Formats: sequence, structure tokens, C-alpha cells
Amino acid sequence: MELHTLLNSLHSYNRYLIIVALFWVIFRSWSGWMGKKHYVKADNTASLVLLILAHLQLLLGLIQYFFTSAYTTGGMPISDPWVRYFKMEHISGMILAVVLIQLGRTFAKKAHLHEHKHKKTALYTTAAAIVITAILAMKGLFLGTLASVTG
Ligand code: HEM
Repeated sequence: MELHTLLNSLHSYNRYLIIVALFWVIFRSWSGWMGKKHYVKADNTASLVLLILAHLQLLLGLIQYFFTSAYTTGGMPISDPWVRYFKMEHISGMILAVVLIQLGRTFAKKAHLHEHKHKKTALYTTAAAIVITAILAMKGLFLGTLASVTG
């Protein structure tokens, strides 16, 4: 199998694992915060799994971006909507999302109160989920529609 096909498949399937992990962390942190629950080992594990998946996605994405993707490494013009999407919106939005996931975990680790650990995780992870949803929707809805209109 060609390297790009392999990386693209891993990157593509990992999106679903990230979405499941996001839902799980968001559910646990909001219910932990609102329900005044203790921040337990399962909360830490859920947020660690999400962080690892997000970093893996970042690594796969960076390799594709700089070495294998025809959209970002070849001579395709930036006026092409797919090139523009992957060179601009996808990379910037998704890196922002990974940073938000990382910050949520870092601030949660630094917090002393259980309530604050849940709160930091809940707010930053929810913000990351909104960014990821918007960027994926941009590709699926806008570019999908554009492709069917133009060709
Ligand atoms: C949470 C983070 C991310 C998610 C959920 C995500 C999701 C996706 C999805 C669904 C695709 C389409 C794959 C397909 O065609 O089946 C894609 C493609 C791509 N992603 Fe990401 N991505 C993320 C982060 C990143 C980052 C940080 C980068 C760059 C540093 C990146 C670079 C790329 C590139 C270059 C492609 C196009 C591959 C190609 O078709 O040539 N992604 N991503």
C-alpha cells in the first residue's frame, strides 16, 4: 500500500476514535463538575486517552501535510478550494483543537480542587469539540457541496 494511502486511512479512522473520546471526556467532566463528583482515576484515563489520540492525529497530519498529501505538497494552486481548506482552515483549526485539549489537561492537572479539575477539562474539551466539528463540517458540507456543483 502506498504511504499516503496508509497515513490517510489511519488519519481518517482516528477521527472516529477522537470523536468517541471527546464525547466520553465531555460527558464525564460536565457530569463531574455539575454533580460535584470526585475527579477519579477513570477521569484522568479518559483525558489521557483523548490526548494521546489527538497527538497521534497531529503527528499523522503533519507528515501528510509536509510530505505526502497532493493538496499541500504539490504544485496545486491555493485557489483550489481543497488546497485552501487543507493548507489553511484544516491545519490551523485542528492544531488549535489539539492545543485546547492539551491545555484542558494541563490546567486540570495543576488544579487542586476536584471541581476545578472537572471544570477545566469540561470547558477546554468542549471548546476543542466545537472547533473540530466546525472544521469537519466545513469540509463535509461546504466542500462536498462545492464539489458536486462544480463537477
Ligand atoms: C483532531 C484533529 C484532526 C482531525 C479530526 C482530522 C480529520 C481529518 C479528516 C477527516 C481528513 C479527511 C481524510 C479522508 O479524506 O478520508 C483529514 C485529512 C487531512 N488532514 Fe486532518 N485532522 C486533524 C488534524 C490534522 C492536522 C493537525 C493536520 C496537519 C498538521 C492535518 C492534516 C491533514 C491533511 C494534509 C489531510 C489531507 C490528506 C489528503 O487527502 O491528501 N490534520 N483530516
